[in-house]
Amino acid sequence: MTLPYCEPFKIKMVESVRQSTLAERHDWIRKASWNLFNLRSEQVFIDLLTDSGTGAMSDKQWGAIMTGDESYAGASSYYRLKEAIKDITGFEYFLPTHQGRAAENVLFSVLVKEGDIIPGNAHFDTTKGHIEFRKARAVDCTVDIARDITAVDPFKGNVDPGKLEQVLKETPVEKLGCIVMTVTNNTAGGQPVSMANLRAVRELADRYGVPVIIDSARFAENAFFIKTREEGYGEKSVREIAREMFSYADGMTMSSKKDAIVNIGGFIGFRDRDLFRKASTYNIMFEGFITYGGMSGRDMNALAQGLYEGTEFDYLESRTRQVARLGEKISAAGVPVQVPFGGHAIFIDAGRFLPLVPAEEFPAQRLAVEIYLEGGIRSAEIGTLMADRDPVTRLNRHPELEMVRLAVPRRVYTDNHIDYVAAAVTNVWERRQHITRGLAIRWEAPIMRHFTVELDLLG
Ligand code: F0G
Repeated sequence: MTLPYCEPFKIKMVESVRQSTLAERHDWIRKASWNLFNLRSEQVFIDLLTDSGTGAMSDKQWGAIMTGDESYAGASSYYRLKEAIKDITGFEYFLPTHQGRAAENVLFSVLVKEGDIIPGNAHFDTTKGHIEFRKARAVDCTVDIARDITAVDPFKGNVDPGKLEQVLKETPVEKLGCIVMTVTNNTAGGQPVSMANLRAVRELADRYGVPVIIDSARFAENAFFIKTREEGYGEKSVREIAREMFSYADGMTMSSKKDAIVNIGGFIGFRDRDLFRKASTYNIMFEGFITYGGMSGRDMNALAQGLYEGTEFDYLESRTRQVARLGEKISAAGVPVQVPFGGHAIFIDAGRFLPLVPAEEFPAQRLAVEIYLEGGIRSAEIGTLMADRDPVTRLNRHPELEMVRLAVPRRVYTDNHIDYVAAAVTNVWERRQHITRGLAIRWEAPIMRHFTVELDLLG
């Protein structure tokens, strides 16, 4: 008999989780103003809100924590991280930050100014937030096929070079702060960007004189997909592929809470010393001195180790398999999900799942609430709530896809947990025709409202 697949790790420490009753969950989510961010973690049985900072660190990472150097300046942990970053990404200069959005804040303080245009492939919400906060505009040039969730294409995270060139052509160069390439493309469903696409972006960027920044939160998953899907890369290692990806960029921002499997941390990588120096001033103001930037020495040690573990093929294979298991189970039940399955999450098309809920009533949020009520599972709305209001007209922006994201934390849940989630989502699918109303906003913040919004359930 062929031996079945097994994860390339075993479990050394466990954390108890508790089931709850439907009545308890109803009470908790109502008191949380129907916003899943407001729930306490004990009120959640399986937490798929995010794969960010929620991964399980390894014995080697915990070991590295014990040897962290907490010196204010020039800590050995800083140099250990510097070497790991140089080795994995090829970037000579780097600045530590406390997480990814802090890296965006520091770098965009140099690169983005009022009136600028920042094209890319579906900027993540904090990235867009930092651009719009500076009264600049993020222009999404993602390929059209990404919007067809059923279309099978290996690289639905790509930028459309035609759309990108149009933006570069019609914008004066002094207003082009940078191009941001997000790998994998979180907003478009955790879909990867091909090496060919990164190369094409580099060529355009050179022609129009614009720097390219890679938002690298899930760069290792992207490299894994290049290895397994793109011609010519099957024999290359994930790390070789990652280095080639970064070779097409002038800099990178990193949320280490994803593919570096740490609970907190981030950094900016630079090729150019001048840019590094300019950004250093902002890092000192916003984050901390340039050799710690908001991270403790122990966190930098765990991150240096995590960069290596996160780029191991066997680990990436087990991770993407588990995400695909969830996708396969719920799509077999008929639930409309984005295919091919992304690297970190399964995205459900809430518009098609709950067609009776009016678009103005946030169908994806209603679906996320129902999945919580069904099984104590926390997911995230990636739809009209997250898309926020147009900064000029203040009208709700309706993204083309109204989605719910089930993000799988790294090395945390077993396949039994995944099967439980699939069963709960299937139960909601089977009673979907009874769900006809959504939610209304009672209170919202002026920017990035989805984190703190308070809602009322309609019907
Ligand atoms: N870029 C991407 C592509 C992201 O997915 C995130 C965070 C960030 C930047 C910001 O990094 O959280 O460390 O400040 N994404 C999380 C998520 C929050 O749930 O997808 P951060």
